[in-house]
Amino acid sequence: MKILFVGDIVGSPGRNMLAEYLPKLKEKYRPQMTIVNGENAAAGKGITEKIYKQFLNLGVQTITMGNHTWNKREIIDFIDDAPYLIRPANFPENNPGKGIVYVKSNQHEVAIINLQGRTFLDPHDDPFEKADELIEAAQKRTNLIFIDFHAEATSEKQAFGWYVDGRASAVIGTHTHTQTADERILPNGTAYLTDAGMTGPYDSILGVDKASVINRFKTNMPVRFDVDKSGRNQLNGCIIDIDTATGKAKKIERIMINDDHPFFN
Ligand SMILES: [Fe+2]
Ligand SMILES: [Fe+2]
Repeated sequence: MKILFVGDIVGSPGRNMLAEYLPKLKEKYRPQMTIVNGENAAAGKGITEKIYKQFLNLGVQTITMGNHTWNKREIIDFIDDAPYLIRPANFPENNPGKGIVYVKSNQHEVAIINLQGRTFLDPHDDPFEKADELIEAAQKRTNLIFIDFHAEATSEKQAFGWYVDGRASAVIGTHTHTQTADERILPNGTAYLTDAGMTGPYDSILGVDKASVINRFKTNMPVRFDVDKSGRNQLNGCIIDIDTATGKAKKIERIMINDDHPFFN
């Protein structure tokens, strides 16, 4: 089972990159499933129903979220009617939406889980404990378990990866918008990558217009952060190959497409 994952899609530059490269990536890697993080898909923060549907139409099976889940208020009205849109499972119980979804492909069911870290982010429920609960539930149905761990601190992400090693097929980090080069298969079979990176403006600061971020650092004054639409774009993600008999990962490969790392089919 090959799963293609695309990191945080930022605004229209990110959506355009996904539309342009998803067919090429599918041709090259032939994934059975595509998962994308969409927490920044609408103008840098949040997602709309229109974009959710656009991603499904492009051939995405599941969209994960993160700390920007609720930024576009309309999500509150449609998330419960959007089966393939998940938000971190350790958000408060009373929040709309869900943090796990089961998606079928070629007779194989994959449990896709979204969790959020707590270091330098909101103090939600313990993601480690929540993972225990969700993995135990998922294992009753399938041994194919994919986790998007949305977190800031590298240490928290590594700790989480080691914590679930052998119980999840893959733990892929999101949120920092900067791809790490530490992809590996942990000893008990979990594919791990601290951060998949960001899909959107390449000549930007985490997707945001450079001048406004530099100005913020220089002045310490409140600054409006807009998605940079002036420069070149990039796509970041990874592809994971999982043994369907055991649920263990066989291979993980990073994907980085930009003018410095061109795409070759
Ligand atoms: Fe993000
Ligand atoms: Fe985030």
